[in-house]
Amino acid sequence: MKTYRIGVIGLGQRIAHVLLAMRDEGWRFEVAAHLDPAPVGQPILAEAGVGMGIACGSESDLAAKGPFDLVMIGSPNHLHLRHLDFALTLGCPVFTEKPIVRTEAESFELAAKLARTETPPVFVGLVMRSMPIVREVIRRVDEGQLGRLVSIDATEHLHPEHGAYLARNWRRRKDWGGSYLLDKVCHDFDIFNRLAGARPARVASFGGRSIFTPEEAGRSRTYDDGRAAYAGYDAGWAGANDAFHSDMDVTDHQTAMVEYGNGLRLSFHANSHVALQERRWYLAGTQGTLVADLVRNRLTFRRTLATGRPEKMEFGHLTADNHNGADQAMARDLKATLETGAPFPVTPADSLLAGLTVMAIDRAMDEGRVVDCAPLWAAYDAAASGNG
Ligand SMILES: NC(=O)c1ccc[n+]([C@@H]2O[C@H](COP(=O)([O-])OP(=O)(O)OC[C@H]3O[C@@H](n4cnc5c(N)ncnc54)[C@H](O)[C@@H]3O)[C@@H](O)[C@H]2O)c1
Repeated sequence: MKTYRIGVIGLGQRIAHVLLAMRDEGWRFEVAAHLDPAPVGQPILAEAGVGMGIACGSESDLAAKGPFDLVMIGSPNHLHLRHLDFALTLGCPVFTEKPIVRTEAESFELAAKLARTETPPVFVGLVMRSMPIVREVIRRVDEGQLGRLVSIDATEHLHPEHGAYLARNWRRRKDWGGSYLLDKVCHDFDIFNRLAGARPARVASFGGRSIFTPEEAGRSRTYDDGRAAYAGYDAGWAGANDAFHSDMDVTDHQTAMVEYGNGLRLSFHANSHVALQERRWYLAGTQGTLVADLVRNRLTFRRTLATGRPEKMEFGHLTADNHNGADQAMARDLKATLETGAPFPVTPADSLLAGLTVMAIDRAMDEGRVVDCAPLWAAYDAAASGNG
């Protein structure tokens, strides 16, 4: 069995967890070298007995430690394009975390680059694509079990501790993370694009910051079992001390409405400070209704005119981070892709379209208007066909 020589750029919590999932799934690998000024993933790997390889001080230093069988990028979002540009010069497959890039301009630049040049393959960590429950949702929609999809209602609501982490971590700043929705739910909008089979035509959004603000700082900082609240996770790279007094400029709750080019309509509600966690997609089709509960990893389905009990499928593998086995499933997909050439479930183009969808939603919120997406897709298509 092959032992992969891996180079890492941005060895944070995420890449550490992906590496551990790869190990769970029987990968043999050695992290040969990493480029990261202060690897946040160090304690996670140390506890699991996984080495981090040689610490490199520059891109050329990392390049000199090659060749690698795989390069993995897990830096903050504003660095993805630069790190992808560099990683693509190393001549081996690249795994990069989502969102693939952070802005519209970066999306067009990357689309043009991928159209222009022969590059090594790029795999994006839109990990929900690998989840068995999501695969089942896609299968049922593709098979026509729901008839024609008419409308979707979706949510992602986070525990207060998770919200406080977002308010202290680098994700709190547009310059680094992009936006709350871009960092947190580009996954969901990637799947919605896939289910719709069409691109968004018009989007609207309202959102803001009214939880993690100085005005709310006086609230209790203790759970009713005595544990301290709002500071449980390490804030990591460029972290802020206090969730209520940081320089956060992204939203902490947001709603969005999307009308796809084929008439499918969707509403989305996200909140980063709730007592009842939820990540749920409610799909209403002409022939059937499906609810995917991604927190409990449970799917419920009933045909529209059926009178019996709804069909329920439990996918198990519940984990505290709500990834519910997704990382292991993605590790299996990546291994199969590299070893047998099986298609990876998501392409760089899918990832760019998901990101641009969320960017259009954020633009609608920022500009207080319904955004017509046609100019966005025209610019993207021009770039992706090499005419940008
Ligand atoms: N697919 C998922 O479900 C998922 C989950 C979490 C995070 N992510 C993504 O993974 C990426 C990393 O997130 P994270 O939670 O691990 O963040 P993190 O803060 O834990 O890790 C980021 C790492 O990047 C390093 N870094 C900063 N500047 C750097 C530079 N110039 N060069 C190299 N490294 C640098 C930091 O020191 C840190 O170790 C983000 O893009 C995030 O959106 C994806």
